[in-house]
Amino acid sequence: MLTRIINGKVWIKDQIVERDIIIEGVKIKKIIKKTEGEQVDRIIDAKGDLILPGLIDAHAHLRDGNLSYKEDFSSGTRAAIAGGFTLVIDMPNTNPPVSNSQRLIERKTLAHGRIYCDVGFLVMPTDFSKITQLSKSGCLGFKVYTHRVFEDANFSEGERLRSLFKEAMKTNRPISIHAEDPKKIHKLPESYDAEEHSKAHPKGAEIEMIKEIIKVASDFPIKVRICHISTAEGLQLFVESKRYNSNLFSEVTPAHLALETSILRKVGKLAVVEPPIREFKDVLALRKGVWDGAIDVIGTDHAPHTLTEKLADKPSSGFPGFETAVPILFTLAKGGFLPLSNVVKALTEGPAKLYGLIEYGSIDKDKVANLTFIKFVPEYLIDSSKSYSKAKFSPFNGFKAEAIVTRTIVRGETVFTSEDGVIDLKNGKIVER
Ligand code: DOR
Ligand code: ZN
Repeated sequence: MLTRIINGKVWIKDQIVERDIIIEGVKIKKIIKKTEGEQVDRIIDAKGDLILPGLIDAHAHLRDGNLSYKEDFSSGTRAAIAGGFTLVIDMPNTNPPVSNSQRLIERKTLAHGRIYCDVGFLVMPTDFSKITQLSKSGCLGFKVYTHRVFEDANFSEGERLRSLFKEAMKTNRPISIHAEDPKKIHKLPESYDAEEHSKAHPKGAEIEMIKEIIKVASDFPIKVRICHISTAEGLQLFVESKRYNSNLFSEVTPAHLALETSILRKVGKLAVVEPPIREFKDVLALRKGVWDGAIDVIGTDHAPHTLTEKLADKPSSGFPGFETAVPILFTLAKGGFLPLSNVVKALTEGPAKLYGLIEYGSIDKDKVANLTFIKFVPEYLIDSSKSYSKAKFSPFNGFKAEAIVTRTIVRGETVFTSEDGVIDLKNGKIVER
């Protein structure tokens, strides 16, 4: 099957060019001039929309299994394609966590035949002697949480991180870390609100842990992603270390780039997230980081919960992020608050580079035909009740936005359009290394 995409403004090597894309099967066959002839079976008219490499979300919680009441592979990947994401990387803090080969294999079996976009998996190793075996079961990398203990495994101490780095290094797969020092997190009462939660997770908890990670990372030749950096100081430490350690990758979320502490009063517990939403000066520092090219990855940290869980005495932290990412980030870019070019890179090239996914992250001959069409539109209000996620709330509900995803193509087939919504075609594949 040969497809020609016409009338697109195509994002190629950091430039927007008027070219046609020829897709053959699941791959991009070539990029041609509008005037060039080519026999094809069908034509997709992009009607002047911006065509980006299929967006990659390197930080997603698809849940499923015992947490399928929050989200499952089907609902999660439907939300992903509606948000323009064509590959999402799933986090291992499931119930039970993906801590050994058996669980990873089970998780892949659960995903099989139910995914609307490509999915890669991260694992949380607890038994370091089995890391090599675990990595061979088909994960893209590792993820650990320094502020929480899973199955008695604690990653908050330098020595423990060192052992992890030493073993993980042998697998040549990146380590992603949630950086918060549990010693600096305050104990919360039985019932608390968003502002109390935020105060219990002070900036110092992130800053101290980033310091520790940078120290350990400098001794091991392995890629390390510091997930969802939220503080100006944490980013500053990262930037200084990146000068001598190119294996360090930074990640920020759309929420930490767009929201500041006043949202905690406005939407309350819905905005509870770890690390918490910070002050405006941190937001500005993170945005400057995107301008300076210091941010390698923008990950949504799509973290669905039920509304009951969010509004409970002890609210669950996190909120869905797939479908608000493009509207929020591209609206900020349109307003001059973020550079469009670096936003696109952090959603495409950046994550592809982190995970060595050479067939992803750019529009070029022989790449997987994953594409995201985007259009700037007159101002509208974000309506989270229309979400494809099971979690139909968002701190961004009611926010003004000026950009939408108009079409998502996964492996050569259209799986979402803004007119028809999600198309019932589970065209995703599990991506392994
Ligand atoms: O707010 C958060 N929610 N932070 C995390 O690190 C985990 C996530 C979740 O899984 O809900
Ligand atoms: Zn997360």
